[in-house]
Amino acid sequence: MKFFIDTANLDQIKEAQDLGVLDGVTTNPSLMAKEGITGKDNILQHYLDICEIVDGDVSAEVVATDFDGIVREGEELAKLHKQIIVKVPMIKEGVKAIKYFSDKGIKTNCTLVFSAGQALLAAKAGATYVSPFLGRLDDISTDGLDLIADIRLIYDNYGFETEILAASIRHTMHVINCAKLGADVMTGPLSSIDGLLKHPLTDSGLAKFLEDAKSFNV
Ligand code: G3P
Repeated sequence: MKFFIDTANLDQIKEAQDLGVLDGVTTNPSLMAKEGITGKDNILQHYLDICEIVDGDVSAEVVATDFDGIVREGEELAKLHKQIIVKVPMIKEGVKAIKYFSDKGIKTNCTLVFSAGQALLAAKAGATYVSPFLGRLDDISTDGLDLIADIRLIYDNYGFETEILAASIRHTMHVINCAKLGADVMTGPLSSIDGLLKHPLTDSGLAKFLEDAKSFNV
């Protein structure tokens, strides 16, 4: 399972990278705005800064919603750096653009996916990644994990190579349950990765080992 961090915050990306388990980064316009990144040049530079920190895929989202605009923006983003994955929304023009990018060998992440039918379309169009938004489904009392399981079943039935990128992950149990269901990738906040480390029996066990090791006089 690949671990992506879902943020545009460079300090948090560095912290996750330093842990040695980071496979990539996902961003979206809201995450960029949260870091105060505005203006085309600054946004493009920020993607380059992220690519400097991590070795893996970096999703950069288009904001156009018409085919020509998505293609124009996506081609510019793809040219920026080899690690950039063009993030395209699940709308009709987006599906057409994903097919276009796929035919040209440009990697895509189909975002804002909330149903198995949308995920099937994304795979048919040749998306590299599909991003079902788990947490946002949970927010409206719909089990987001059911969607991950449905997409896994459908993709396995037909051997689709599109990777399931479980997005809108909020906490460690989302990560663990997505791993059980066979999601290829998870993207979440730093806390969802750091949280995996923690167990009180690890802390108390280590405290006891260190106490007993004092007698070693090393
Ligand atoms: O990758 C998609 C993600 O950014 C959405 O997360 O927490 O805003 O629902 P959230």
